[in-house]
Amino acid sequence: MGNCTVVVTGASGSCYGMRVIEQLVLAGHDVSAVFTDAGREVTALELGFDLPADDARVAAAALAAYLELPSAEKLRVAYPDAMFDAIASGSHRIDAMVVAPCSMGFVAAIANGLAADLPQRAADVMLKERRPLVLVPRETPLSLIHLRNLTAAAEAGAIIVPAMPGFYAKPESVDDLVNFVVGKVLDVLDVEHSLFKRWGS
Ligand SMILES: Cc1cc2nc3c(=O)[nH]c(=O)nc-3n(C[C@H](O)[C@H](O)[C@H](O)COP(=O)(O)O)c2cc1C
Repeated sequence: MGNCTVVVTGASGSCYGMRVIEQLVLAGHDVSAVFTDAGREVTALELGFDLPADDARVAAAALAAYLELPSAEKLRVAYPDAMFDAIASGSHRIDAMVVAPCSMGFVAAIANGLAADLPQRAADVMLKERRPLVLVPRETPLSLIHLRNLTAAAEAGAIIVPAMPGFYAKPESVDDLVNFVVGKVLDVLDVEHSLFKRWGS
């Protein structure tokens, strides 16, 4: 891998997206982080992290500090209305994209090719270019519309990794549960990690 996009939407579970960003950067990848407007608000509510809204460099530095990354060098932030951003084009090489957590609204948008803002367009590009797009949906219960949209996204090539932690590893904390889901995301991207103990090892 190398260049990754991580989108944090307004579904509950901003901790998943935060950990994906942290782990990809620590594994040496360059990460473009995009928070939808709802994603920014839910992140502030759930984690107390308020992403600076008017300066992408300041936002990247604040995000790196929150994640306690050694530096902000591998991290950039793009805002959802930045339609001229590099990740909006298939000619810009993005090796993988993760949407974590992924709202049902976002699934609906990409299942129907809306491409109405930067993160939706970036996901649309990943599908048309046949590059890895991992969705971490979070909603319960799921309506038939949600299920159909998830199916359409999977048929178009998206990899669906639901925020459904397993319990066979005997989690002892919320962190363990988050690490299980994020570890599964990294597994499908072939990124080495030690976020959970593997069955049989
Ligand atoms: C506290 C809170 C929690 C939410 N949790 C979810 C959720 O788990 N799944 C979901 O699909 N939407 C959830 N929503 C609704 C989304 O934030 C909303 O549909 C939003 O428009 C999604 O926009 P986005 O896809 O651009 O982020 C939640 C909203 C709030 C305020």
